[in-house]
Formats: sequence, structure tokens, C-alpha cells
Amino acid sequence: MTQPSAQRTLVLLKPDTVRRGLVGEVLSRFEAKGLTIVAMEHRTIDGATADAHYAEHVERDFYPPLRAFVTSGPLVALVLEGDEAVEVVRATNGATDGRKAAPGTIRGDLSLSNRENLVHGSDSPESAEREIGIWFPELS
Ligand code: RTP
Ligand code: MG
Repeated sequence: MTQPSAQRTLVLLKPDTVRRGLVGEVLSRFEAKGLTIVAMEHRTIDGATADAHYAEHVERDFYPPLRAFVTSGPLVALVLEGDEAVEVVRATNGATDGRKAAPGTIRGDLSLSNRENLVHGSDSPESAEREIGIWFPELS
């Protein structure tokens, strides 16, 4: 049953996760942790959606290749729910750069890249609300 304190967060299993056949592996880690899947969709996004999602990064030097990557093929978008879900997902994902992420985290165990780092998780409750509005407006 959903707890009154439950929090929601927006998670992406990026195109590298789908290409590498790791959707089940990554999803199972979130499920095993105890998070609940509230929404899930397999889709390919266009550049405008990437720009909306990464609004804070669109002017950065690293953004053009990041934009090309996230639009390069299908990804899986999720809303996960649970106690302190934003922080729990960030910790489960690990540090941004897979080469530096701690073993035991998704990126630490499965990624060797700062771009193809498998997953996205909202970085605050405010970001989660904004991102859920972009990906799953019917939940907002
Ligand atoms: P994400 O948003 O994808 O979950 O990753 P994050 O919060 O851990 O990292 P963030 O700072 O939001 O950056 C978004 C994505 O941009 C790439 N990045 N490259 N200096 C760089 O070259 C640089 N900084 C960030 C990463 O691929 C990161 O996932
Ligand atoms: Mg981020």
C-alpha cells in the first residue's frame, strides 16, 4: 500500500540500457530496493523533449553530444515511488561518471562512461515534479 510519505521520482533507462539488453537488470535493482513502478513507457524522444528534460544543461558544451545520445534510440521512462525515492534512486544510480561510480551502484557495476551512464534520476523533489510533468503529464 502506498505510504502517505511516499515520494515520486522520474527515472530514465537511457538508450544504452536498452541497446545493451540491461532493462531487466536495472529495473530489477529498483524493484528489489522496494520502489514501486507507478508509470513506465518505452519510447524514442525528439530533440525538443530532450531540451525540455535537460533545460538546465542546454547551453553547456557537453549538451550537443548528450542530446544526440538521448535521442539515438528507444529508452524507458519510469515514475518510481517510495520513501525518499529521489535520494534513494540517486544513490542506487551512483556517481554520474561510470568510471568513478562506486561498485554496487548501477553505474559503478555496469557503466564505463560519463555519457553512456545507463540511468537518469531526478536530482530533487522539485526536479521530479517538473520532469514528471514533461514525461507523464497525466500524473501531474
Ligand atoms: P542525469 O541527469 O543524466 O541523471 O545525470 P546526473 O544528474 O548524474 O548528471 P547531470 O549533472 O544532470 O548531467 C546530465 C548528463 O550530462 C552529462 N554530463 N557531462 N562535464 C561533462 O562532460 C558532463 N557533465 C554532465 C552526463 O552524461 C550526465 O548524465
Ligand atoms: Mg541530472
